[in-house]
Amino acid sequence: MEVAGRFASGFGIATECGWGRRAPATIPELLRIHRELSAPVHESGRSRGRFAWPSGFARIPDEEWTRQPVDVFGLRYDTVENHGWYRNLDPTVEDLARHLEEGQLLIDYSGGTGILLERLQLRIFDRRVGMLIVDSSPKFLRVALDKFSGDERVGLRLLRWLKEAKRLEFLDEAIGPELAARGADAITSTNAIHLYMDLPETVTSWARVLRPGGRVFVQSGNIRNPQARPSEWILDETVWAIHEVALGLVRNDPRYAAYRPLLDDEPRMQAHVAYRDRVFLPVRPLDYYVGCLEGAGFTVEAVTARTIETSVEDWFQFLTAYHEAVLGWLGGSAKVNGAPPTKEAERDRLLLIRHAMDTLLGGRQSFRCCWTYINCVK
Ligand SMILES: C[S@@+](CC[C@H](N)C(=O)[O-])C[C@H]1O[C@@H](n2cnc3c(N)ncnc32)[C@H](O)[C@@H]1O
Repeated sequence: MEVAGRFASGFGIATECGWGRRAPATIPELLRIHRELSAPVHESGRSRGRFAWPSGFARIPDEEWTRQPVDVFGLRYDTVENHGWYRNLDPTVEDLARHLEEGQLLIDYSGGTGILLERLQLRIFDRRVGMLIVDSSPKFLRVALDKFSGDERVGLRLLRWLKEAKRLEFLDEAIGPELAARGADAITSTNAIHLYMDLPETVTSWARVLRPGGRVFVQSGNIRNPQARPSEWILDETVWAIHEVALGLVRNDPRYAAYRPLLDDEPRMQAHVAYRDRVFLPVRPLDYYVGCLEGAGFTVEAVTARTIETSVEDWFQFLTAYHEAVLGWLGGSAKVNGAPPTKEAERDRLLLIRHAMDTLLGGRQSFRCCWTYINCVK
């Protein structure tokens, strides 16, 4: 354990199936190691109470998005579940498993397709905790609906866009008066807080819903954290670097010669870059997040940075879902130019994204990113 601790900030132990056939004298030591490296699934002596949704609250709302077919984009996002860099959820799962008690309610804000809740359920088994996924994307929620429609512990809520007010619903508005009156015991936001344009208002709405003593677990790989090591990337900043390297490749590599004139159409390039910056937002510093959370009335108990190893192939696969934002200028896009790229241009765009990534990362298989975890209490 001492040796492993020098190389990895967190690890567990796995022993082969059939370990009982090992030499009996080695078993106590093996069990000791397991005990030292394991967190309790459930602490003894805690009060037990079955979780129940308040009366008048529909776990799955009767809304249009619930009747839509599952969308390819939502399914595609859900495959990140198999990506190594999604180990970024592990510390949050551990924090939740440590704090959530029977009868309590967790709100997974921006819970998307429900990857965190699936992992949490594997960790807490049948602990009777209520879990509500709240998200602004009906497509992602629709994927979550397929996963959890039969699970009485899980509810879903869409954050609707309020046209007149030009904002998303606040948390208390989206969950309705019955659940807001009950309050939540914990709120998580994983891989999402960097996307909130109105952060102070958003976290203030969390404070209105969280019970006194309740906890907030926030994490993201897109926070500028002074604790980050020099070798670590901020994940979304790879997208800007890919763009810069791609410009050079198009200028110099004969394979992309046909696209060279596009680089000199300044207004067109600007329009694509502006669209990219709306999808991959400029990175904000850690202090900003801490200040907003404190301003909303939370006490920030811990801020930690972890290194997350990201496979270049996994990150490339992720970016293929957002290729119009990454290098939309090659071939154009419906959103920016009014017409989608040709099949050939789309193929070249994906090739160029990968080519730029390999150039940027020196042909390595993986790169390191800094993930920031902010834990608060109300
Ligand atoms: C990168 S995904 C992360 C999903 C999930 N938390 C996870 O870790 O797998 C970002 C999520 O944030 C949601 N989102 C984007 N903008 C948002 C906003 N302004 N407010 C709330 N949620 C937002 C998206 O719909 C999406 O589900």
